[in-house]
Amino acid sequence: MGSKAKSQSSKRWLERQHSDHYVLLAREEGYRSRAAYKLLEIQKKDKILEKGMTVVDLGAAPGGWSQVAAKCVGLEGKVWAIDILPMESLNGVDIIEGDFHNAEQLEGWVSTLEGKVDLVISDMAPNISGITSVDQARASALAEIALLFAERVLVKNGEFLIKVFQGSGFQEYLKILKSSFKEVVVRKPKASRAGSREVYLLAKGYLSTTKETRGVYLERYA
Ligand SMILES: C[S@@+](CC[C@H](N)C(=O)[O-])C[C@H]1O[C@@H](n2cnc3c(N)ncnc32)[C@H](O)[C@@H]1O
Repeated sequence: MGSKAKSQSSKRWLERQHSDHYVLLAREEGYRSRAAYKLLEIQKKDKILEKGMTVVDLGAAPGGWSQVAAKCVGLEGKVWAIDILPMESLNGVDIIEGDFHNAEQLEGWVSTLEGKVDLVISDMAPNISGITSVDQARASALAEIALLFAERVLVKNGEFLIKVFQGSGFQEYLKILKSSFKEVVVRKPKASRAGSREVYLLAKGYLSTTKETRGVYLERYA
């Protein structure tokens, strides 16, 4: 994208932010991001968050999803929030600053959380370059790592909610997800912009690490 096109698209983004219903609502209701309303809508329909749960929020900054999760799990529960960006502290949330592409960091988190997590939620998204093929590849890589991470930390029957982008690699990802979980449903909350290719996949009933995904993991991190 040229610099003129880029600045026009940032201008459009700013204009949209100022007028967007969910941005205004988030400001009014004290959520750190409009993204909170995507999780709230999924929660209303699927009841994935319950009191006492241990939840890990991937790509958590600025913290809208973590706010929703912390409220739902209550004081008996636990929320871990991981992001490459710093995040302001939040009651009931343990914040970890780190990069999912850093295998050493990832291994450290896995060894702390292995087999202890009821729900992994991932709203991770790469910085957008504007080149569709590059952005799609980056988003796919993040989604793959998020799944590999979830498979290492989830309890049996645990759940996994992830943002993905429809396009190349989508069907393959769905297939792998379906082999590791009893059921996978697609969600497109109202707060997710209609024109955007993003959708949320909710995988319920974690079975166990499949040979296929374990192979991918070992190849990548061994
Ligand atoms: C759409 S935002 C998440 C918004 C958040 N769910 C909320 O409700 O406030 C996506 C996040 O993914 C994070 N992210 C992108 N790549 C990452 C990586 N490699 N490791 C950790 N976090 C990453 C970004 O820093 C960004 O904060």
